[in-house]
Amino acid sequence: MQAFLSSSSILANPCPRSLFPRPSTQSQLLLSSVSGARTNAAAAASARRSSGRCVATPASSSPAVAAVATDVPAKMKAWAYDEYGDTGVLKLDEAVSVPAVGDDQVLVRVAAAALNPVDSKRRMGKFKATDSPLPTVPGYDMAGVVVKVGSQVKSLKEGDEVYGHISEKVLEGPKQFGSLAEYTAVEEKLVALKPKNIDFAQAAGLPLAIETAHEGLERAGFSAGKSILVLGGAGGVGSLIIQLAKQVFGASKVAATASSPKLELLKSLGADVAIDYTKENFEDMPEKYDVVFDAVGQGDKAVKVVKEGGSVVVLTGAVTPPGFRFVVTSDGSVLAKLNPYLESGKVKPVVDPKGPFSFPQVVEAFSYLETGRATGKVVISPIP
Ligand SMILES: NC(=O)c1ccc[n+]([C@@H]2O[C@H](COP(=O)([O-])OP(=O)(O)OC[C@H]3O[C@@H](n4cnc5c(N)ncnc54)[C@H](OP(=O)(O)O)[C@@H]3O)[C@@H](O)[C@H]2O)c1
Repeated sequence: MQAFLSSSSILANPCPRSLFPRPSTQSQLLLSSVSGARTNAAAAASARRSSGRCVATPASSSPAVAAVATDVPAKMKAWAYDEYGDTGVLKLDEAVSVPAVGDDQVLVRVAAAALNPVDSKRRMGKFKATDSPLPTVPGYDMAGVVVKVGSQVKSLKEGDEVYGHISEKVLEGPKQFGSLAEYTAVEEKLVALKPKNIDFAQAAGLPLAIETAHEGLERAGFSAGKSILVLGGAGGVGSLIIQLAKQVFGASKVAATASSPKLELLKSLGADVAIDYTKENFEDMPEKYDVVFDAVGQGDKAVKVVKEGGSVVVLTGAVTPPGFRFVVTSDGSVLAKLNPYLESGKVKPVVDPKGPFSFPQVVEAFSYLETGRATGKVVISPIP
């Protein structure tokens, strides 16, 4: 309903008030850190109402502005918020300036995006001390087509189909212009070519979750022949931890937890043991594991089932020694390394069957994610 109201109010007003009406001082500071941003911001500031249409008038005739005006539109549809809060702060804005492209960046026409719990935590203001300035276009995960390349970009070209997690650091200065938009600008090193056998919606759900699973397994020193218990095996990250542990790292045994309806999924992903947390307490079971990977926030229980000298990786919640926590760093080379496993079908994307959600259904998609019951990834597709 929220999305519907936003859309219809936009339709009623062909030149709606944008959450990004003019670049604020903070926005200009952020934007001017990438090449060409000032001209793009100037073009945005010059957008004016004319004959009932929104027209972006370039402030100068510099090549950068001409490129924005001819290659891609100056304005795009994007979900955005200008204050922290629950899903009610999300607005569909049809007049957001297309982000400028830095020398080391590509501009991607986003075909699909995916939500992560960190999008919700960020929107609630939990990271406001290190967040980019408001207003924010949320979204870390995307898949789409390169439509423009920066001058220092080496391996990508226009027309390439790519996927990636667009903010190198999730919590520290994440991009103000995220992936829930028609276009997003991202560093070349953070993306990879999309695996050929999967579609944009499937690809969009992978980057942040699969990079988290991979980084956690590496940090835990996981290797062939070791055993692992995955807490939260049916979620976005857990469904990939199971598969990477088995198919990429060569686990000798994978156990995972979920509620009763999801046990078959765990087994189909490669779990040797599927533990129904509604019926059994994993921490009371006799089996011990080389690594326990906690994607739920049960660090206190996780340490009870790790072998002496083993590792406990915690993604959320309190950390109990010897457990450790990390925050994922985006890295396109990890995606490129994993592409053969995806293209061979050994590792499969898991898209929640309630989706993909359409672009106007982003509020509904967030509400669903925030139930904590998603199976695999909550995906938004197509965009727009
Ligand atoms: N530190 C980092 O870098 C990093 C990176 C990514 C994610 N995270 C964090 O890791 C957590 C998981 O992320 P995600 O994307 O995987 O979330 P998600 O997809 O929303 O996880 C939902 C899944 O969690 C399962 N679940 C909930 N309670 C459970 C329990 N007690 N035992 C077993 N499974 C349970 C649910 O299964 P049932 O319906 O069967 O309960 C559901 O399938 C989030 O808190 C996220 O913020 C941290």
